[in-house]
Amino acid sequence: MNASFVRRYGRKCMVLCGFLILISMVIMLQYLEHSSARRLLILSKPDITGSMTSTFSNKRNPWVTPDPSLTIAKTKAFLRNITVKPSLKLLINATKTKYPVTIDAPYLLHDPKLCSSVRNLSVLVIVHTAPDHFDRRNSMRETWTNETYYRHLGRLRVLFLLGRVNDYNLQLRIEEEFKTHKDLLQGDFVDAYRNLTHKGVMGYKWISEYCRNAKIILKVDDDIVINMFKFFTDVYPKYSVKPKEILCNHIHPGTMLIIRNKNSKWYVHEDHFKGQKTYPRYCSGFMVMITNDVIPAIFRSASLTPFFWVDDVYLYGLAPGNVPGIHYNDMKKKDFSLSVQTALKCYRNETSTCEYLAVGASGRYDVIEVWSNMVNLYEQSRKVTTIAARKAVTTPMSGTTDGEIWPTTSSGNKPVKAIGLQVGKSAEKKSVDNNEDLKIQNT
Ligand SMILES: *[C@@H]1O[C@H](CO)[C@@H](O)[C@H](O)[C@H]1NC(C)=O
Ligand SMILES: *[C@@H]1O[C@H](CO)[C@@H](O)[C@H](O)[C@H]1NC(C)=O
Ligand SMILES: *[C@@H]1O[C@H](CO)[C@@H](O)[C@H](O)[C@H]1NC(C)=O
Ligand SMILES: *[C@@H]1O[C@H](CO)[C@@H](O)[C@H](O)[C@H]1NC(C)=O
Ligand SMILES: *[C@@H]1O[C@H](CO)[C@@H](O)[C@H](O)[C@H]1NC(C)=O
Ligand SMILES: *[C@@H]1O[C@H](CO)[C@@H](O)[C@H](O)[C@H]1NC(C)=O
Repeated sequence: MNASFVRRYGRKCMVLCGFLILISMVIMLQYLEHSSARRLLILSKPDITGSMTSTFSNKRNPWVTPDPSLTIAKTKAFLRNITVKPSLKLLINATKTKYPVTIDAPYLLHDPKLCSSVRNLSVLVIVHTAPDHFDRRNSMRETWTNETYYRHLGRLRVLFLLGRVNDYNLQLRIEEEFKTHKDLLQGDFVDAYRNLTHKGVMGYKWISEYCRNAKIILKVDDDIVINMFKFFTDVYPKYSVKPKEILCNHIHPGTMLIIRNKNSKWYVHEDHFKGQKTYPRYCSGFMVMITNDVIPAIFRSASLTPFFWVDDVYLYGLAPGNVPGIHYNDMKKKDFSLSVQTALKCYRNETSTCEYLAVGASGRYDVIEVWSNMVNLYEQSRKVTTIAARKAVTTPMSGTTDGEIWPTTSSGNKPVKAIGLQVGKSAEKKSVDNNEDLKIQNT
């Protein structure tokens, strides 16, 4: 290379070299991004003990008061103890074995601080919801998942789980909703009926990573109303102090037939659970309460258990089934009504007291009516307790310590007014629903 060559091509070389350096920097950056994404994937492949223990170090979460019985070593041992029952792989004869976490891409939408920003978080409500169910989510936010009603009872957060949608405008609306409420968790899998197992496993994963401080996880579908007053007063005190508990409508092994009729929505291929007539134990998924201590173990189990699309069987049966020491508690018949008509009939019957913890209701009108009945029951029980307390105490009381829940309870006993919601007559049901639809279409 002689001097003139350098003089001639030096400037061009500088431009070229600069360009090359720029390109290599871009490539390097992309590689770095890629490798961290890959690291995430590797961590959540079947052996995830490492990633699980990191969630127990509480670095992410300043508000966690570590359970002294749950040392990192113990947790590690517990997670290592989880092995899939050998019969499962045969039973779930997937032609190509796949695990739900194989679609473990980063979340599309989520707020990592949803739980960790709350001290003493009592319950995280996880809602399996369809992406276009804006009205159902809003009804829930206004009524039973609205934390403002339980300030004196405990802290609550709600998280709606959804998958990917192919409609751009729908996605924009979902992102708007996320900006407003910050209570959505959207995963990178197609939101479809036969993908609900993915939705549930995503929930287990997210809780394991970002919500170690909630005491109790309450999973519901988006057409359910929970009597949270009953939950906080009866259920929470009992289960928040016990480890490894599940409370649900328990489907005992050998009682639920596997549907082999090809025309059924629930059709299961003959190769799955081959030769079996009934399912092993699981829970119906409309309401499942799980103590948070076992969620990471269930998630680890899910990463080892081959995919099976019937979500209730997988999420509340097969996956927890590999976790040693889990204890199932049965909901009783009086604890729930999936028919809103039956529930309302009971609430309107003056001679009976309805003990429902869970009621099936999805229309805005029904949700509000069921909810206000639950509120009334709670207000009445509080009055009874107060009167009983007054009678028991000889000296006059200086008032209750927790104060009033409703902003305006003085005018009779109509909490619907207090929560600023309108309840019409049954005949107006249709128009209420239509208005809701119109409002959504117009926005
Ligand atoms: C792991 O399993 C063994 C045998 O079932 C049991 O004795 C042990 O207590 C388990 N360890 C933990 C941490 O659960
Ligand atoms: C699994 O399914 C395949 C075809 O879907 C079948 O050939 C095979 O025999 C099945 N295996 C078991 C153990 O059922
Ligand atoms: C959290 O709960 C503990 C025990 O129940 C209590 O002592 C503490 O004051 C609570 N902290 C807050 C910020 O409410
Ligand atoms: C929760 O309830 C409060 C009090 O009624 C209300 O102001 C608020 O708008 C509700 N939140 C949502 C998201 O609807
Ligand atoms: C489930 O999600 C995966 C990943 O997005 C997708 O490939 C698959 O088609 C979905 N299944 C259904 C039944 O839509
Ligand atoms: C109301 O409840 C009582 C006691 O449970 C029952 O005997 C009666 O049939 C109920 N009435 C109606 C209208 O459902």
